[in-house]
Amino acid sequence: MHRFWNRFVKPIVETAAPKRLMEIGAEFGWNTAPALEYCRRTGARMEVIDPAPPPALLEVLARYPAEHVYHPIKSLEAIPRIEPVDLVLLDGDHNWHTVYNELLAIFRRAADAGAAPPIVIFHDIAWPYARRDMYYSPQDLDAMARHPYADRGMLPGQSELTENGLNANFHNALHEGGPRNGVLTGIEDFIGGYGGTLAFHTLPFFNGLGILVPQERTTPALEALIDSFYSRESLLETVVTLETDGMRVRADLASQNVRLTRQAEALRRAKSTIDALRAELKASKQGS
Ligand SMILES: C[S@@+](CC[C@H](N)C(=O)[O-])C[C@H]1O[C@@H](n2cnc3c(N)ncnc32)[C@H](O)[C@@H]1O
Repeated sequence: MHRFWNRFVKPIVETAAPKRLMEIGAEFGWNTAPALEYCRRTGARMEVIDPAPPPALLEVLARYPAEHVYHPIKSLEAIPRIEPVDLVLLDGDHNWHTVYNELLAIFRRAADAGAAPPIVIFHDIAWPYARRDMYYSPQDLDAMARHPYADRGMLPGQSELTENGLNANFHNALHEGGPRNGVLTGIEDFIGGYGGTLAFHTLPFFNGLGILVPQERTTPALEALIDSFYSRESLLETVVTLETDGMRVRADLASQNVRLTRQAEALRRAKSTIDALRAELKASKQGS
């Protein structure tokens, strides 16, 4: 989600001016740090939830002791213990069961306290996890709550997992699509069953950002800001950013190819030297 911070998430946060925030899935703290900086500037506080904190996250949290409460547990256990918040950054376990139940718990928490439900900003609402589950710890989920999965990669436009695809080191559902599969499906199913009015906006790049705005949180300024994300200028700026990103990946691939070609040539040269030495040795043995 951190790649969305400057151009999209930060302006939403500044415009909505939440006093209480929640971040689900903080990982290295790349998103946490600027969000806590906002808290420091405005006197807001953030509830940070991540059951597997890398040292980098703990270092970020240590810099902002007054601005956060850290919950080193899973979201579905943490949310009911936390007072309602105004805005949630949701980027934890990327599967239907977790996302759907996180939304239920977040909205129930607000309703029980008589508070307005929060704005929720999601990451990974586009490929690869829009319509495919991924499980950080599948063993902790009931078998009914997950799809069959494997540690194999994904390719766009292909449901079956593959050896050469993306995120082969994660526990990915074997198939894409169908009921109760993926982050976006979880959000849509929640919206479909919700009694109130919700606006849901998507930015389908960099794995996708979703912005869920309950009617109670809508303001003209927030609407105008979100509309501006879809303006010609903003979309063109996004195309340039994506093109730069693609160029970096291609440059990286090209330099890896050059490195591999040089290594292969060096190996070929070493092999022919060894072959020549072997032949010399054999000839000298036969001569003696
Ligand atoms: C994709 S990373 C988050 C990236 C981060 N938001 C960013 O923008 O840099 C997902 C994180 O969610 C955490 N996570 C996994 N399951 C979770 C759960 N049930 N509740 C909260 N966090 C969870 C993982 O430990 C991991 O650090």
